[in-house]
Amino acid sequence: MQFFVDTADIDEIRSLAETGLLDGVTTNPSLVAKTGRPFRDIVADICAVVDGPVSAEVTATQADAMIEEGRSLATIADNVTVKVPLTMDGLRACRTLSMEGTMVNVTLCFSANQALLAAKAGATYISPFIGRLDDIGLDGMELIAEIRAIYDNYGYETELLAASIRTVNHVKDCAIAGADVATIPPKIIRQLVSHPLTDKGLDAFLADWQKTGQSIL
Ligand code: E4P
Repeated sequence: MQFFVDTADIDEIRSLAETGLLDGVTTNPSLVAKTGRPFRDIVADICAVVDGPVSAEVTATQADAMIEEGRSLATIADNVTVKVPLTMDGLRACRTLSMEGTMVNVTLCFSANQALLAAKAGATYISPFIGRLDDIGLDGMELIAEIRAIYDNYGYETELLAASIRTVNHVKDCAIAGADVATIPPKIIRQLVSHPLTDKGLDAFLADWQKTGQSIL
């Protein structure tokens, strides 16, 4: 499973890119607003740090305007993925931009039927939002499993990009369910490495090693 980080914070992205674990980045207008920086600068900075796909979202709501914004965003760097919302206009924009060779991430997906439409529109990625479904008492992971089954039934090449991830268990469950990608907040990526038994075991090994009085080099 590929790991994208879900943030527009360039310092976080730089630091995670150094781990070698990062395959791409997703942003959205809310994440951009949090930075207080100009959108195009943010996208250019991220694309200079990360070779993989970098999702940048259009803010127009009519297909023609989305296409114009998408074409403009795609000029920033080769790895820009244009993000469009899952509306009929978004699907029309997805079809056009995909046919032009631009990667498209269809976002704000909350149902399997929406995901089916995105695949038919030629989306590179579909972004189902797990956490926001859980927030309203539904089961976000069930949606991931449904989309996986539908895409496999018909051999759709659209990649399943699990989004709105809130916990480390979401990440594990996405991997079990066969998501192609998970876009994960920086804090959750860092939590994935932690286990109290790892810390305890390492402390014990180092204490015992000290007792030997040896050094490896
Ligand atoms: C996906 O691309 C979105 O940016 C993101 O995952 C939304 O997550 P949230 O529901 O935590 O805002």
